[in-house]
Amino acid sequence: MSTVDSHLAGVPGSPRFAARWLDLREPADAAARAAELLGPLRGYLEHVRRPGEVPAFCDLGCGTGSMGRWLAARLGGPQRWIMCDRDPALLARVGARMPRRSADGGRIEVTTEGRDITRLSSGDLAGMSLVCGSALLDLLTEDEVHRLVSACAEAACPVLWALSVVGEVVLEPAESLDAEFAAAFNAHQRRSEGGRRLLGPDAVDVAAAAFEGHGARVLTRSSPWRLGAGQAGLAEQWLLGWVAAACAQRPALARFSERYVGRRLVQCRSGALRVTVGHRDLLALPCSSHSVPL
Ligand SMILES: C[S@@+](CC[C@H](N)C(=O)[O-])C[C@H]1O[C@@H](n2cnc3c(N)ncnc32)[C@H](O)[C@@H]1O
Repeated sequence: MSTVDSHLAGVPGSPRFAARWLDLREPADAAARAAELLGPLRGYLEHVRRPGEVPAFCDLGCGTGSMGRWLAARLGGPQRWIMCDRDPALLARVGARMPRRSADGGRIEVTTEGRDITRLSSGDLAGMSLVCGSALLDLLTEDEVHRLVSACAEAACPVLWALSVVGEVVLEPAESLDAEFAAAFNAHQRRSEGGRRLLGPDAVDVAAAAFEGHGARVLTRSSPWRLGAGQAGLAEQWLLGWVAAACAQRPALARFSERYVGRRLVQCRSGALRVTVGHRDLLALPCSSHSVPL
């Protein structure tokens, strides 16, 4: 197996998600998440909170629970988390790792649900105080995003969808081949697979426009990974997956890939490589929020 083929499941371009890959990226995800969206979210949740009610938060495509772990500890009060994913092996890892207490010591309850989140209806989401998700939207098709947005909007749920790729990658020091791999990788993210055409880097714009069509208040913020010497293990695995996906999309690149990866890995292991991977976080508040001062 070549260096380029030996990447972890779940790294860019792979259809499966290994817990090991999700664990590897969790600290970089936590550092990247757009914490500035939490102010408006907290303001909205406070405004609609009913005394005595324990809010229910739903994490769609939760994997091993990275988003819930980050968010639960940053919101106050008692919380009920419903963690949804179609992969039972990832769901099995969620419960033991969620925080037991919220930011102000409130009790946190966690349940898991194995399901396909593209089939959720507004009825399934009714009563949720928040629908969230991370590193998910870009894996969906336009129809799936529209359906999910409609379900959330009809259920009047606020939504926080974090860390969707936007197709921007910067490697430093730069090489002329970077742009070729980046273009092929982005095409791979927009690939058609089993009759589904994935949105990839277009996902946030599609979701934002769909929410606006429902009258929601939409805020988006940049949430890039900034990987340097302190994140060399993640940068290495990301690079292998990025190049492998680019070559799968454009096989002509394969003849350059071994040497390109070789050079990049030397830089990575010596702390000389910096990688910025663009993401965007989206907060959508129901149309009723327009009267709420945030
Ligand atoms: C890139 S991982 C992100 C996991 C987690 N949200 C995180 O940030 O670490 C994408 C997750 O979405 C899940 N997923 C993708 N499509 C799904 C679907 N249609 N229904 C349920 N889960 C899905 C995958 O199983 C995987 O756990």
